[in-house]
Amino acid sequence: MGEKKQKPIVLTGMQPTSAIHLGNYLGALKNWVAIQGEADCLFFVSDMHAITVPQDPNQLRKNSIDCTAAYLACGLDPGNSHIFIQSQIIGHAELAWILGCLAPLGQLERMTQFKDKASRQTGEFVGAGLLYYPALMAADILLYNAHLVPVGEDQRQHLELTRDLAEKFNGIYGPLFNVPEPLIRGGCARVMSLQNPTAKMSKSDPNSLATVFLSDTDDQIMKKFRSAVTDSGAEIRASDEKPGIQNLLNILSGVCGKSIPELEANYAGVGYGKFKTTVAEAVIGCVRPIRERMETLKKDSQYLWDVLENGRMEAQARANALMAKVYGRIGFVRRADL
Ligand code: AMP
Ligand code: TRP
Repeated sequence: MGEKKQKPIVLTGMQPTSAIHLGNYLGALKNWVAIQGEADCLFFVSDMHAITVPQDPNQLRKNSIDCTAAYLACGLDPGNSHIFIQSQIIGHAELAWILGCLAPLGQLERMTQFKDKASRQTGEFVGAGLLYYPALMAADILLYNAHLVPVGEDQRQHLELTRDLAEKFNGIYGPLFNVPEPLIRGGCARVMSLQNPTAKMSKSDPNSLATVFLSDTDDQIMKKFRSAVTDSGAEIRASDEKPGIQNLLNILSGVCGKSIPELEANYAGVGYGKFKTTVAEAVIGCVRPIRERMETLKKDSQYLWDVLENGRMEAQARANALMAKVYGRIGFVRRADL
């Protein structure tokens, strides 16, 4: 236990907005699994972030549980890491409010993701939660005094705000928060749509052939790769002029661990059709055991519940300890339960 305290605290999460796809796995989850042994890890399902855009309540609840099953199936180890659901912990919303009071409105309004998401809700209601989202994300991180936060490039701006808020709080109320560092993955981690390789693979792509989900059957995966969009050439080479082939090489490299130059050498002279099948087979080999574990886990709701309950208790204890200090610093009257 004493040794665990020395390790850096790593915290990250994902929104349970739909099924987990290959981009989520190669770009995020696989890296989370890799860091587990070296750090004191907290992984959560960010359902409070998900409701910044409208969600169906029953679907959201199901997605949160399925997301937990996917975390475990991909290799997050509840014996090593703490896995929990954001809304089950008292403290995220409370600290978000406090940090939001320190966040400059202009900085929130300038967030790229806020501008993007708000403009996509065309003609629809734009909730203030979308603007407040980065304050909640800062609270998620600072509530556990995390040192390192693995995120995608798209979250860099939110991490910068988190750092600013930690420094601002420390400056006004005295040192309390670690100023966390983002852990942003290298260029290889962006998985693109199989139907439009210049766009990111995403959960919400209307083209059902564009995205490979971890729940897809072997046949579905094969079909999606066979119909992947490539160029009219014949060379297996990663280049910006060949985004389709580049994406397939990138995916293959992600699942088999070999470098792109090595793969280019291995597949020189191989036709596109054969190459697509090869990539599909490698992806099937990687996804099948995850899918099977996911199916088994989903049938064992008691086990999932136990994992989440253990995670909740640990996270809540840490959150309470931190919030007791925050209350003291801010000038709130002490809470007996903290
Ligand atoms: P999202 O699905 O956008 O909620 O993202 C959840 C996590 O998966 C984040 O860490 C993203 O950076 C990562 N992610 C999402 N889509 C991709 C993708 N196409 N390629 C690589 N990483 C992705
Ligand atoms: N905003 C992140 C995303 O959409 C998810 C998230 C919420 C998160 N809170 C976080 C990630 C705290 C890291 C740390 O991907």
